[in-house]
Amino acid sequence: MPKTVSKQDALEAIRERLQKCDCCSLCKTSRNIVFGEGSSDAEIMFIGEAPGAVEDKTGRPFVGPAGRLLTDIIEKGMGLQRQDVYIANIAKCRPPGNREPSPEEIRECIGFLEEQIKVIEPAVIIALGKTAAQTLLNTDTPISELRGTFYDYHGIKVMPTYHPSYLLHNPAKKREVWEDIKKVMHYLNLPLPR
Ligand code: URA
Repeated sequence: MPKTVSKQDALEAIRERLQKCDCCSLCKTSRNIVFGEGSSDAEIMFIGEAPGAVEDKTGRPFVGPAGRLLTDIIEKGMGLQRQDVYIANIAKCRPPGNREPSPEEIRECIGFLEEQIKVIEPAVIIALGKTAAQTLLNTDTPISELRGTFYDYHGIKVMPTYHPSYLLHNPAKKREVWEDIKKVMHYLNLPLPR
């Protein structure tokens, strides 16, 4: 009988391969890979762009200032725990100076995320910001036009919304993000916290 591989084991195997990756030059300047974290059975996956300084230092996604806002959206807004969802990025190594990952860097890295998504099989992906949304949906359409509507990614619903870093500079846009998040909660039959 073939041994069944748990989702956690499958994710660990991807992480081990990522650890050895030198497909682009980002591994030369970054301190740590930022694989992703959360529940391997998550119904919701949040996908950002690439690690920032704090993420690079700790090896964990969304733990800097934008991460604190994302955690508030998950915990205070949605009434979930951070560990109930899965959080990952398009690029796994920090681009120097927090620049956007280049199209080539994304091409080299995206396979790892694709594998993570296949293992986790979330019901919904919330694509945080332009890089995540445009990469997953293979489009150049601006995030301001993409946000708020469900799209399909290999049978998984994708809800694009603004990136938490953008919200830190444009707090008035939080209202639109909350509208997008409420659509996801409605789709998943999750109760809105009072
Ligand atoms: N911004 C991202 O896109 N990802 C992180 O992990 C942190 C900040």
